[in-house]
Amino acid sequence: MDRLNMEQIGEKLFKYKDFIFPLELVTPEHINSLQTFEIRDSDVFLVTYPKSGTIWTQQIIISICELDGGLNEYANNCQQMAWLEYKTKEDLSLRPSPRLFTSHVTPPLMPLGLKDKKTKIIYVMRNPKDVVVSYFHFGKVLTLYETPKSFEDFLEQYLAGNVGGSSWFDHIRAWYLNRDQYNILFLTYEDMILDLKGAVTKICRFLGKNLSDKGIDQVVEKATFKNMKKDSKANYEFILKETISGDFMRKGRIGDWKNMFTVAQSERVDRMLQEKLGDTGLKFIWE
Ligand code: A3P
Repeated sequence: MDRLNMEQIGEKLFKYKDFIFPLELVTPEHINSLQTFEIRDSDVFLVTYPKSGTIWTQQIIISICELDGGLNEYANNCQQMAWLEYKTKEDLSLRPSPRLFTSHVTPPLMPLGLKDKKTKIIYVMRNPKDVVVSYFHFGKVLTLYETPKSFEDFLEQYLAGNVGGSSWFDHIRAWYLNRDQYNILFLTYEDMILDLKGAVTKICRFLGKNLSDKGIDQVVEKATFKNMKKDSKANYEFILKETISGDFMRKGRIGDWKNMFTVAQSERVDRMLQEKLGDTGLKFIWE
């Protein structure tokens, strides 16, 4: 019945409850079921807008929890940090604790139980200009999305919020303005690039894990771009070759947008940042 309320966007996406999902991975019924999905105090959620450093933060969280002990074994990071909104044969409500989850959705679609503020959420954001460049390259190699016609065209779709994950601006706004309703830590991709050890320490403290300095260094080592690229549990090369014909781990840098953006495009995004998020008090230090 809810299928009546879903609007198909192009060939590979659909909009439901004001959010755009890949058709292949998500159903409206599953999205509805998330509201009452029972969460536990010991669960940990990672939430991001696509291409903001999700698999990187997964590796950090998993490595911290592994060293802390008691984590259950799964084949890879994608299974270890199950994707909340993607349909799966596994009944996640039966998973033993501690459970780790990943999601790209906005607050209205999340399990209501998260508002008890006991369960921890880590939210990672990234410069919207680097996000769209990463997303554009990803769109060229991932069959879940339509191949972008050109960067210019993809940027238009992205700024209009017509891509998987909807609008970057709305995502940041919704999570930031609703932060008081959750137990949430905000981090940026840029924090992680500029001071990985500092970011790992912050995540560790937030999760209440007492790792030694040596333990923190071990997590940092596992999370460097070079080491993660070789780590078959972390680099997403386990994804079927029919689904992806390139790398999740592409460049892993700050400022790649400068290779793609014109001055006018960059100024346009700067104006939108001011218009759409200027009143939030968020201070962005991207570089
Ligand atoms: P680029 O495409 O700019 O290289 P997500 O996991 O949300 O899809 O984000 C993917 C982006 O995170 C990619 O950005 C990828 O290279 C980057 N990334 C993944 N692991 C990283 C790491 N260990 N260090 C730095 N960047 C990383």
